[in-house]
Amino acid sequence: MAMSNGHEIARYYAMRAREYERVYEKPERQNDLARLKEIVGPLLASHVVLEVACGTGFWTQVISEKATFVTALDVSDEVLDIARQKPITEGKVEFKKADAFRLSQITGQYTAAFAAFWWSHIPKESVTSFLQSLHHPLTSGSLVAFVDNRYIPGNSTPITDCDKFGNTYQTRRLSDGTEHRIIKNYPSKTELQLNLGAQAESFQFQELQYYWYATYRVKKEA
Ligand SMILES: C[S@@+](CC[C@H](N)C(=O)[O-])C[C@H]1O[C@@H](n2cnc3c(N)ncnc32)[C@H](O)[C@@H]1O
Repeated sequence: MAMSNGHEIARYYAMRAREYERVYEKPERQNDLARLKEIVGPLLASHVVLEVACGTGFWTQVISEKATFVTALDVSDEVLDIARQKPITEGKVEFKKADAFRLSQITGQYTAAFAAFWWSHIPKESVTSFLQSLHHPLTSGSLVAFVDNRYIPGNSTPITDCDKFGNTYQTRRLSDGTEHRIIKNYPSKTELQLNLGAQAESFQFQELQYYWYATYRVKKEA
């Protein structure tokens, strides 16, 4: 079985690219997904958005309907190839290959950042460096929004183990039969707040049945 580290996460999603959006077809999650779309679209309306770990562009398409412009980044060519085929209005989105931990190389004037189902894959020991990277291209007062899964016993893929940092792991099987040990964390509101600390203002956290979302404003020293 393939082990989970930063490289393995990227490789796993590259291998999963063609079957990735099946995750959005689960019947019991349709109400929540419809609500999330209703929340995320208006939240980022009229913003110039930096989307991190955009995957196949499922949320990019949603955001692009109301945002001024979206720069959508992912580390995997395989998912970006699919994202680029989404029927999105010309001139609204630019897809680029970029590592979420190296955003200091990204230039542009963003008013918001967004990441869906990415926080859960960040090793706890790397959250500080991810936030440093994410906040680098943003100015003070920029809006940040994260969306991710809640752990629902009996519905979520079971957690198989935990490491010394408290990261939890799942065994995931792809349609080619390969198995992957994937990091998947389920942070609480308190953990997120502690992670963000003084870098966040106006922090808000909401739970739906299957998902959570959090928003805040970036606070940088003057
Ligand atoms: C769970 S998927 C989420 C995709 C998309 N945001 C969505 O919600 O449909 C996680 C994504 O993170 C990407 N990824 C993994 N490591 C990354 C990294 N270091 N930098 C940027 N993206 C990364 C994967 O390629 C994958 O597309």
